[in-house]
Amino acid sequence: MTRKTFLPFSRPDIGQGEIDEVVNVLSSGWITSGPKVAAFEKAFAEYVGSPYALTLTSCTAGLHLAMEILDLQPGDEVITTSLTWPATVNMIHLCGGKPVFVDVERDTFNLDASQVEEAITKQTRAVIPVHFAGQSCDLDKLREICKAHDIELIEDAAHAVGSEYKGKRIGSGDNMAVFSFHPIKNMTTGEGGMITTHDNKTFERLRTLRFHGVDKDAWKRYACGDKAGYELYHPGWKYNMTDIQAAIGLVQLERLDTMIEKRMTLAALYDDLLSEVHEFTRPCRTRYDIRHAWHLYTILVDKDKAGIARDEFMQEMGKRNIGTGLHFQAVHQLSFYKNHYPVPDGSLPETEFISETIVSLPLYSGMNESDVHDVVTAIRDIVEKFKK
Ligand SMILES: Cc1ncc(COP(=O)(O)O)c(C=O)c1O
Repeated sequence: MTRKTFLPFSRPDIGQGEIDEVVNVLSSGWITSGPKVAAFEKAFAEYVGSPYALTLTSCTAGLHLAMEILDLQPGDEVITTSLTWPATVNMIHLCGGKPVFVDVERDTFNLDASQVEEAITKQTRAVIPVHFAGQSCDLDKLREICKAHDIELIEDAAHAVGSEYKGKRIGSGDNMAVFSFHPIKNMTTGEGGMITTHDNKTFERLRTLRFHGVDKDAWKRYACGDKAGYELYHPGWKYNMTDIQAAIGLVQLERLDTMIEKRMTLAALYDDLLSEVHEFTRPCRTRYDIRHAWHLYTILVDKDKAGIARDEFMQEMGKRNIGTGLHFQAVHQLSFYKNHYPVPDGSLPETEFISETIVSLPLYSGMNESDVHDVVTAIRDIVEKFKK
């Protein structure tokens, strides 16, 4: 019954191609930001369909720089979801804004657009939706609302590399979108991120903020024949990606669609096998046209229905050699945000219910169908054990 070896909930899919490219960069004499970074940015911009893409050390760095572009003033508000990794909300707070939480939809786990509209005030500067698990938000609705109120839309696309909304890739819109290449994501660079925009001025500002605020990085000053001198108009940070990371990213990007197709096949198998397990709630689909990138396959474990609470379920899976993940605990219920940005009781009921019951099952492109069968066997075993 129990698997002999542990099945992690995620594992990066690194092949010989990535390893060879890293070795090439290491032997080349140039390992920080250089030609590989430039090639990766070009390839990514082409892939998503955006004129500008900028590599970064993480998605968090991208969210930080996007907040810097907003130039938040005391009292400014940014509407977002609480069902996210803290990075999304931390960057609003750390850049001087006030995070305003809006509830998510029970079926898609994405921001509820009608509630976004109700939450807009004179102080609202931006909305940051998360494309949860790689399933796109209803961008037309969000864009319409942001346009009507003259506020920015910044997509937290950490889960959404390769996702599509109505036939267009996430990152192709004219607003900023920020991606993550953390090792559990659909493609990785070890750690890393990317920000896309259509606006040349925004891009140039992001580019300098990424590298101390100076106008030229080392590649331009020393390897491209430019003059060694540089200028600085605004202090910035040190968020540049290395060529070692970009070399991995270039190969991963070439393989991305194949890796996503594998995730889709595995998710469809989960759907099929779990359709007979009525104790748990499977992920729902959007009512609009998307390509789901299947970053996560999540189920809801409601004690009233399943006879077992989520945390105990995760432990029981672990005992059966199956890893699981928790994405996410509601940010507004974490101590800092509970104390600094309290929300009225019962104002985020869907977020709170999902946060209490959600579990990510193993899903990654290196998994095979027999692994999915093992996960579902373990789930059925737990259902039997905890049957009322
Ligand atoms: C929704 C969301 N936003 C932002 C981040 C931050 O990404 P990174 O680790 O690349 O900074 C994550 C990371 O998991 C995430 O899930």
